[in-house]
Amino acid sequence: VAITLIGAPSDVGAARLGAAMGPEALRVARLEQALARFGSDVLDIGNLAGPTNPQADAQSGLRHLSEAIAWNRTVHRAVAEQLAAERLPVLLGGDHQLAVGSIAAVAQHCRANGKRLRVLWLDAHADCNTPAMSPSGNLHGMPVAALCGLEPKALVAGLADEAAPILEAAQLCQIGLRSVDDQEKRMLRELGIEAYDMRAIDELGMREVMTRALRGLDTGHVHLHVSFDVDFLDPEIAPGTGTAVRGGVNYREAQLCMEMIADTGCLGSLDVVEVNPALDIRNQTAELVVDLVESLFGKSTLVRPVGDAR
Ligand code: ARG
Ligand code: MN
Ligand code: MN
Ligand code: MN
Repeated sequence: VAITLIGAPSDVGAARLGAAMGPEALRVARLEQALARFGSDVLDIGNLAGPTNPQADAQSGLRHLSEAIAWNRTVHRAVAEQLAAERLPVLLGGDHQLAVGSIAAVAQHCRANGKRLRVLWLDAHADCNTPAMSPSGNLHGMPVAALCGLEPKALVAGLADEAAPILEAAQLCQIGLRSVDDQEKRMLRELGIEAYDMRAIDELGMREVMTRALRGLDTGHVHLHVSFDVDFLDPEIAPGTGTAVRGGVNYREAQLCMEMIADTGCLGSLDVVEVNPALDIRNQTAELVVDLVESLFGKSTLVRPVGDAR
């Protein structure tokens, strides 16, 4: 595959400043060079331009809505452009509200090409708050709600035909959850989103969780989008993120998760979001992410028999 790295230095949707430096941290950790071993060609198109963080208070339950809209339009255009060129876009965030623009572009691309879309949302959080439900007003807690057709609808305006939601709940699967707000919890249930929280990972093990999450991908014509919020990982191994929650996915679990996704051969696009170098220790979070992304693109210790992943 041909891979394109797209930097989106936004932290307008986050609780804390610093995720805007995420793309640089990933470059310093040599993401492009690491992927060059797995992609036929890897192109880093640099950073998209967008509004800086006004550090304003929430207005009607939302912080920085107009800035987030601007970022998402730009991300949408950039991701669509790479997909049209038959390249695999890797969005380097930036905060998680950027997934709206990225997944909107991916969904459009799938519709136009008769591909079935499946989205894996690797995250400590469900990011399914509406402005009315959000405890913070931060837009990075809302992209799933917006993608599934709920408020804030302004975030998706112009990114898709308004009639249908960009994502059906059935296309989405969340893994790693351990911080879900009360009303958000009910919303996940109402929408019927398939979700594996940390308890599920504890009880079933990552292997079984991934087997379930990846079911049906072998039927062909599936585009798998992975939206990887680095707070999915345990803060002991990935401290460089703005809303860290203890009790996350450990190193071995994370590797297996990535390896099993790679085995499907369906990976079509990726977001790497919420790396915050200002909170990190010697860039270890970005370095860990690079390590995991290598597995996601097929790095394995031994030669693996083709078509017999398990
Ligand atoms: N649920 C909290 C909120 O809505 C935290 C969201 C964190 N999201 C993230 N992408 N890190 O404010
Ligand atoms: Mn280059
Ligand atoms: Mn999160
Ligand atoms: Mn998130």
